[in-house]
Amino acid sequence: MNPKKFIFTLILGGVIAFAARAQHRKTALTIKADKMLAPVQPVMWGVFFEDVNMGADGGIYAELVKNRSFEFYKPLMGWTVQQKNFNEGAVLINRQEGNENNPRFLRVSASHAAKGALGIANEGFRGMGIKKEAWYSFSAMLRQPAGSDIKIHIELANEKGDIIGNAALAPTGKNWEKITARIRASVSTSKGKLNIWFEGNGVIDIDMISLFPEDTWKSRPGGLRRDMAQLLADIKPGFMRFPGGCIVEGYDLSNRFQWKKTIGPIENRKTIVNRWNMEFAHRSTPDYFQTFGLGFFEYFQLSEDIGAAPVPILNCGMACQFNTGESVPVEQLSPYIQDALDLIEFANGNASSKWGKVRADMGHPESFNLTLLGVGNENWGPQYAERLSAFQTAIKEKYPQVKLIASAGPDPDGGKFDYMNRRLREMNIDIIDEHYYREPKWFLQNVSRYDKYDRLGPKIFVGEYAAHADKTVIGELRNNWGAAVAEAAFLTGLERNADIVVMASYAPLFAHAEGWQWAPCLMWADNLRSYGSPSYYVQKLFSSNRGTHVIPVLANNLPLTGQDSLYASAVWDKNTKDVILKIVNYSPKQKDVAVSLEGVKKVLRPIAGTVLSSDSLEKTNSLDFPLAVSPQTLQATATGKKIEVNIKPYSLSILRIKVQ
Ligand code: AHR
Repeated sequence: MNPKKFIFTLILGGVIAFAARAQHRKTALTIKADKMLAPVQPVMWGVFFEDVNMGADGGIYAELVKNRSFEFYKPLMGWTVQQKNFNEGAVLINRQEGNENNPRFLRVSASHAAKGALGIANEGFRGMGIKKEAWYSFSAMLRQPAGSDIKIHIELANEKGDIIGNAALAPTGKNWEKITARIRASVSTSKGKLNIWFEGNGVIDIDMISLFPEDTWKSRPGGLRRDMAQLLADIKPGFMRFPGGCIVEGYDLSNRFQWKKTIGPIENRKTIVNRWNMEFAHRSTPDYFQTFGLGFFEYFQLSEDIGAAPVPILNCGMACQFNTGESVPVEQLSPYIQDALDLIEFANGNASSKWGKVRADMGHPESFNLTLLGVGNENWGPQYAERLSAFQTAIKEKYPQVKLIASAGPDPDGGKFDYMNRRLREMNIDIIDEHYYREPKWFLQNVSRYDKYDRLGPKIFVGEYAAHADKTVIGELRNNWGAAVAEAAFLTGLERNADIVVMASYAPLFAHAEGWQWAPCLMWADNLRSYGSPSYYVQKLFSSNRGTHVIPVLANNLPLTGQDSLYASAVWDKNTKDVILKIVNYSPKQKDVAVSLEGVKKVLRPIAGTVLSSDSLEKTNSLDFPLAVSPQTLQATATGKKIEVNIKPYSLSILRIKVQ
């Protein structure tokens, strides 16, 4: 070989060998298991429930009848009247003076009507989800004057109009009374409807027409969809923030959320339009209203059911600033403040207090243990600070132990944020609520956001966050793995900063695949099925691996915040004696990682590993493929106090390491 060629070959060989070594070079991580940096709050990972995207009415609230009391703007929306004879029919009556909260009902006149000649039908929320062999509970308020003799026939029908269940009733009461019937469905349909036929002669009044599956969450009559509530419970959320979101603020003040109007008998809960009904012209949902069947009592009850601390958010005297921004004069704020004080009593007061008694009478004598309360959803500016301050004075005077949450506005930076961030710190607010909907890149770039926060100031609640793919991606497709894995990287930054970031929740929570306004969304449903998005599994994995204390995980003595596209955080669980390591790889390459544990005597085997990954950043879950991106087992090997693990491309990996 000529000498030049020889030298070239030598260099080339060296380069190849170096490259090969580099390729197999392991990322070395050190976990200092005995160095507790900060406790992780039990409320660290939670959920945010708002009735957007048909999340409550038409969603988790299992009522199948849309517009059950004829209170929509168009009173017969969702209903069709079926009539053969001109001298028969249905007239809408408004008894405004007698019943302000539920003024309308339907008066049906029949002239020797045969079954099938005179009736009304309800289309449900994009149809009704009905399951084969399941029982359904029909109910209605009815009355018919002396001399009338009308029977009613109830039918469940499928999308072809075939009758798949029925019942008959012979109401006799002259005064309003609730009558009920049980119906068993013979086949399943997601596009069912309800027919009500009137047979006989005379006049009959009908209102509050309702159809519920008997199989609800906790088998509560008039309750929640079991599958959706179960998905929620499976997250094991530390808290539940409710009921919004912009619906707290309302399009204007008359449309704001008022908790007192959402408790007590459902026929007295005044239906109002949902402000998401008309928010987006391209996703207009004219049949979206709030019946408040899922009201404040039920929100507290659901929180309790799923082991989540209740976090109600109250209107601060301002409507949504993206809409009217209508504000109540500060000198007229007292009814709003009184609502807040009364809510605390409703949640916590004993049964001899005024509002504690209301709760006890609704079936919950025990306290709901409210310790966190938000005033204002996503408000900003001096007008918010001024109103908030009045709430703060009154609430702290009567209930100093209740921690107040206040909004930093709609953005994580910029003028509105800077103003609120400064003012809330001056006001010594307990917890600042930050919201951000940003592209995945932002989440990666902001992994260290909280490293720089003042450790002595207010705590932080990341009350609403979601990585948004660019706008060309629509609906369910926005919940892709690319967004979820960027969120996972970001959450390691929240966990590392758990001394200051005490709560976090993705937004929004539920979306109906045919009735949504805002995407992405954590969980999706149609009338029969529901599933968690990839972001759902990220949340769930963080929540079910919360641990009790943050401990350092270091690469070259530094936290792993994106070096070589890797992100990590670690916690110690004092209850299970596990060290829990979370690693996110935001790159298309597998990464081989060697983890050394310091501060432990022994690592016990086997190591429990879980990985969430996908070969494509565009991959989503769907109603047909709900588990396309879902947790799988991850193998890791331990030698002494060293663990080796291969970290998949674009993945979230979790190792639970039992130690002594
Ligand atoms: O989560 C959807 C909306 O986003 C919330 O209602 C609001 O708080 C935010 O602007």
